[in-house]
Amino acid sequence: MLLDSIPSLDSTEALSVAQGPAILLGDPSLNGFYITEGPRCGMTVPVDVIFPVLHGPFGEDGTVQGLASLSNIPCAGAGLLGSALGMDKVMMKQLFIQNDLETTDFIWFLRSAWQKKSETIVRGVREAVGYPCFVKPANAGSSVGISKVTDEKGLAPAVALACEYDRKILIEKSVDARELECAVLGNDDPEASVVGEIIPCNEFYDYNAKYVDEDSKIVIPADIPLQIANRVRHWAVAAFRTLDCSGMSRVDFLLERNTNRICLNEINTIPGFTPISMYTKLWEASGLTYPNLIDRLIDLAIDRHRDIQQSKFYR
Ligand SMILES: Nc1ncnc2c1ncn2[C@@H]1O[C@H](COP(=O)(O)OP(=O)(O)O)[C@@H](O)[C@H]1O
Ligand SMILES: [Mg+2]
Repeated sequence: MLLDSIPSLDSTEALSVAQGPAILLGDPSLNGFYITEGPRCGMTVPVDVIFPVLHGPFGEDGTVQGLASLSNIPCAGAGLLGSALGMDKVMMKQLFIQNDLETTDFIWFLRSAWQKKSETIVRGVREAVGYPCFVKPANAGSSVGISKVTDEKGLAPAVALACEYDRKILIEKSVDARELECAVLGNDDPEASVVGEIIPCNEFYDYNAKYVDEDSKIVIPADIPLQIANRVRHWAVAAFRTLDCSGMSRVDFLLERNTNRICLNEINTIPGFTPISMYTKLWEASGLTYPNLIDRLIDLAIDRHRDIQQSKFYR
């Protein structure tokens, strides 16, 4: 639905000023939203920048970013490749490992393989990962479909749940860790924010601890030695570059309690983006206000679009 303005994101009043349903056709010559119904049907509304405020598959995974590219419109945040790699936890971890960025030990398999030979996979988990472990769909987010499994009995139901969300499943060694997060901003010369800590109110940072209960805590800056904070910031930028991200990302770490070992957990190419979200609060604490952050992201999207257009196939 194409709106003239947004009086309030919470208000349905906005819909009353709608110009009608509109779509991106993926036609570079149109360069905007095509109105499909109502008095302005058939008209195209030009768009300067798309700012995807979306989570999960069909929003954060490169599909919308690809459509923006086809439509020749700058898009804030990572492009198709960075978004897709950041979404798929298996691809992400394989690339981290290839670039000497430590991540949790894991195995992965396809849903079809589980259906055909679950015993082999159960044995693989026992030998290569052990218990407790985390079972995850490779492509989801918001902790949806993720279970912490403490013994072999709990494995099959956890895999069945993960299989509801994706055809690719990973099983990770559980790390007894504090959770650190670092915000990255930029294109070819990305910068890292101060480091924050999440203190989940549940056993792990599951869906309820993220969005339902209000007892999880955010600590900014995290109470950690400077040396660890610097390493986290360095790795956050390295992870961003490794996955060919641009614009923004929040990079999440596990800091093992007994050893102070740092482990990359994941990258989020579209982090939570309200004024009270970790990404925005980390930048606020690093000296960049919310409005200035949005301005920067819009400028970065336009810069990246111009950069891409310098290449022959994209003009
Ligand atoms: N290997 C692990 N060891 C310890 N805790 C983990 C591990 N993997 C995930 N978690 C917990 O589960 C949460 C969600 O997992 P994560 O991989 O970040 O998925 P999502 O993309 O859905 O946020 C993490 O924030 C953390 O609390
Ligand atoms: Mg996470």
